[in-house]
Amino acid sequence: MDWWKKSIAYQIYPKSFKDSNNDGKGDIRGIISKLDYIKDLGADLIWISPIYSSPMKDNGYDVSDYYTIDATYGSMEDFDELLEQAHQRNMRVVMDLVINHTSNEHPWFIESSNSKENPYRNYYYWRDGKNGEEPNNWAAYFHETAWTYDKKTDQYYLGVFSPYQPDLNWENPTVRKDLYQMINWWLDKGLDGFRLDAINLISKVPGLPDNQPKDGEKYVFDHTKFVDGPRVHEFLKEMNRQTFNNHDCVAIGECAYVHPGKAVKFTAKERSELDMVFTFEHTDYYKAYGKNPKKLKEIITNWQKELHNKGWSGICFSNHDLPRIVTSFGHEYQYRKASAKLFATLLLTLEGTPFIYQGDELGLPDTRYETIEDYDDISAKKLYREKKRLGFDETTIMKAVQKHGRDRSRSPMHWDNSQYLGFSTVQPWIKPNTACSDINVANSLNQSDSVLNYYKEMITIRKANPTLVFGNYELLDSKDEIFAFRRFDEKGNFLIILNVSEAENEFLHPLLGKNSAKVIINNYPKDFSLKQNTITLKPYQAIVLHV
Ligand code: GLC
Repeated sequence: MDWWKKSIAYQIYPKSFKDSNNDGKGDIRGIISKLDYIKDLGADLIWISPIYSSPMKDNGYDVSDYYTIDATYGSMEDFDELLEQAHQRNMRVVMDLVINHTSNEHPWFIESSNSKENPYRNYYYWRDGKNGEEPNNWAAYFHETAWTYDKKTDQYYLGVFSPYQPDLNWENPTVRKDLYQMINWWLDKGLDGFRLDAINLISKVPGLPDNQPKDGEKYVFDHTKFVDGPRVHEFLKEMNRQTFNNHDCVAIGECAYVHPGKAVKFTAKERSELDMVFTFEHTDYYKAYGKNPKKLKEIITNWQKELHNKGWSGICFSNHDLPRIVTSFGHEYQYRKASAKLFATLLLTLEGTPFIYQGDELGLPDTRYETIEDYDDISAKKLYREKKRLGFDETTIMKAVQKHGRDRSRSPMHWDNSQYLGFSTVQPWIKPNTACSDINVANSLNQSDSVLNYYKEMITIRKANPTLVFGNYELLDSKDEIFAFRRFDEKGNFLIILNVSEAENEFLHPLLGKNSAKVIINNYPKDFSLKQNTITLKPYQAIVLHV
């Protein structure tokens, strides 16, 4: 049974969720203490970002032991209890599966660097240099070059993220076998599935050829050399056959640069690869070009149409790598609440499994720090170095870091407005966003018009109406700023009307004139003005009608 199609997912960034032992870092016991909060919100599928043993160069996305829990987060007993407590509440738990790479402190990597003859050598990509330089000119995501020189054996190893995250060589069947064994170990334990990190990076272009030189730069970034390589589908099929397929679990793919055609290939049932992939096309677009409601509905409509009856997606507007929803898609100030509610409405009325990232249910905006020392994110540090090298002034550089550095959405969760926001009783590992301390769970629970209460209401509506999960989708004609669509099947007909704009806008549709039209939810307190077939929407107003 594809239970995960009906799930409402909640993503936990464990280091910043809840600190139970007051060491300034979130932990598993903290998560257990908040299970009722998540349950009350209405979410029933919890994805926890990595909690395996790790040197934490990329906050756990650099695993040094897949079979143990990092001491920061607690113990395996704590984890088992979390799983049990979640299951008791009819909630499922998925872990992050980081298998494109390991940490450079993983025993496999340590072995592999010992000698060229070591049996683990071929677990990674080791290559000779070229004319005393790197084997090719690839740049890494979080580092200048994708290659790190190792004196001991006079060779370089590949890390497309960073030197702390050497890429596993999936061409080697023994690597794959070891990974499958580990996956089965967790699934046998009762884990409900995985979110597969950077999973379409596991197959590289054979020969690892140079990138086209660009702007006289020594290292060039070009994802096409390591994303969706020639064997990616073969590897996914094999993994599915040997692991997920034998368990009642969900496999959620984080696939970079994905579009609907590829998403169908990854998730079509008969292909037996993954159960869903995240929709990143709209978040990528906003990252590159900024707000654009016309493009937003174009991209989303395309996904809705192309995947219907063919594949499945995880709908996401934010996560630990992305800006907060109100910052990127909505409005941070005057219309913060309205825009947060508008995107909650969109998230919860589309086909696909909705993912809520911790804190977005409060309508939190991005966190911004003044100096680079306040940042922990490995990618923010690369950006800072790069801008420095290019000669930008400090103010300009910090603006870029505030915008693109991933700590913008990783500051501690806002539980209440005490000194450390109820996250901890000591100074947290990263500065809390005290500028927004009033936006917190305790306040939100007490305010009837809070973003949190709106999320709860929307989730209840989705759960009561499978049409919103499985129904057909039709985009309705409107001006660019209005995103209006219908979800319908034999059981119901819903009209979702969203004004993705700071201005008032009108929307005209014959269905609006029907007396039977019933308002299911409206993110503004008063009724809207409906004259004949035309409705006037306030800034960021969102309305769902049942007709
Ligand atoms: C994924 C994760 C990101 C991490 C990267 C490397 O994109 O979401 O946080 O840094 O993979 O593992």
